[in-house]
Amino acid sequence: MEPIIDKLGRPIRDLRISVTDRCNFRCTYCMPKEIFGDDYAFLPKNELLSFDEMERLARIFASLGVKKLRITGGEPLLRKGLPDLIARLANIDGIEDIGLTTNAVLLKPHAKALYEAGLRRLNISLDALDKELFGKINGRGIKPDLVLNNIEIAKEMGFTVKVNMVVEKGVNEQEIIPMATYFKERGITLRFIEFMDVGNDNAWSFEKVVTKKEIFHLLEEHFNLEPATPKYYGEVAKRYRYLDNGAEVGFITSVSESFCSSCTRARLSSDGKLYTCLFASNGFDVKSIVRSGKTDEEVTEAITKVWQGRRDRYSDERTEETAKKRKKINMSYIGG
Ligand code: GTP
Ligand code: 5AD
Ligand code: SF4
Ligand code: SF4
Repeated sequence: MEPIIDKLGRPIRDLRISVTDRCNFRCTYCMPKEIFGDDYAFLPKNELLSFDEMERLARIFASLGVKKLRITGGEPLLRKGLPDLIARLANIDGIEDIGLTTNAVLLKPHAKALYEAGLRRLNISLDALDKELFGKINGRGIKPDLVLNNIEIAKEMGFTVKVNMVVEKGVNEQEIIPMATYFKERGITLRFIEFMDVGNDNAWSFEKVVTKKEIFHLLEEHFNLEPATPKYYGEVAKRYRYLDNGAEVGFITSVSESFCSSCTRARLSSDGKLYTCLFASNGFDVKSIVRSGKTDEEVTEAITKVWQGRRDRYSDERTEETAKKRKKINMSYIGG
């Protein structure tokens, strides 16, 4: 089956589904606690897509070319019954791969059920090994040991685990080498993510970005690396292999080397809108059309139209001006 193509010739291949806008962390670069405080109005349950609606939409997206699904949040493990959703999604014809992006704090009690439901891939966020610093970045004083233990548990259970580290200048650069060393020794792929101007609340500027080039130079002082070939068309991370033990490390370079020309990702936000870019201002309200009793054909047609009209290439065009002035969907609704 041929996937549908957008205005810039990009096929649809991935769907990222945000299952909740809530999170048990308050990462400074994502949901700063000054803004996401005790009185912050999160979505009421009926505003979230139900599992039935997600399953139906995922089936429709699969019929248009989507092969990969990724479950995100907020923190997706806060959504009750997640293994049930995974099992339903894993059953859809054409879906070859399902991943979950999580901070892993709540993973331990759910890991077995998720594995049994068919989940095999976990991308786990961890920005520092230093206790105090990690507690400060996550805004909740959570210690890295908890995350590290849950990574161990997940590995033992058979999950493929990757670790995501957002690097911000003046905040956690000193953690680059300790993190690289720790995960290299354990054969776990660590991906350094350039700090991005997602949402409207993280006080982003170019000066706060540590680029891939800078991180790579630092790594080269300690390790011997060779480039690894991309696993699939449009892979988000650029990966390298440590020559001595074959472990890998990656870079997500949205700021210094954008990758929009091969962007095959659609996103369903926690409030049921379809976004064709992480940095979009507006989404297409699929929840309303799904709830208005439209047939599968009608929903398929509406989604097709949105993708076929897509011209997004935000990271190619990013300037200090767009970063500061453009109103963008918040990370907690769109999950990265
Ligand atoms: P796999 O490659 O399937 O393991 O997943 P992934 O790396 O695409 O997903 P993950 O949720 O782990 O995202 C890692 C980082 O990449 C996050 O900071 C995302 O916001 C970022 N990212 C993912 N897709 C895109 C994209 O299309 N554009 C931009 N700018 N960033 C993206
Ligand atoms: N810049 C880069 N990465 C971010 N993430 C969240 N906010 C940002 C940002 N401003 C990352 C999280 C998680 C993934 C979903 O996105 O750390 O690993
Ligand atoms: Fe929560 Fe992830 Fe955002 Fe941190 S980056 S606040 S863990 S959703
Ligand atoms: Fe895709 Fe938008 Fe990211 Fe570019 S900035 S890679 S178009 S999501």
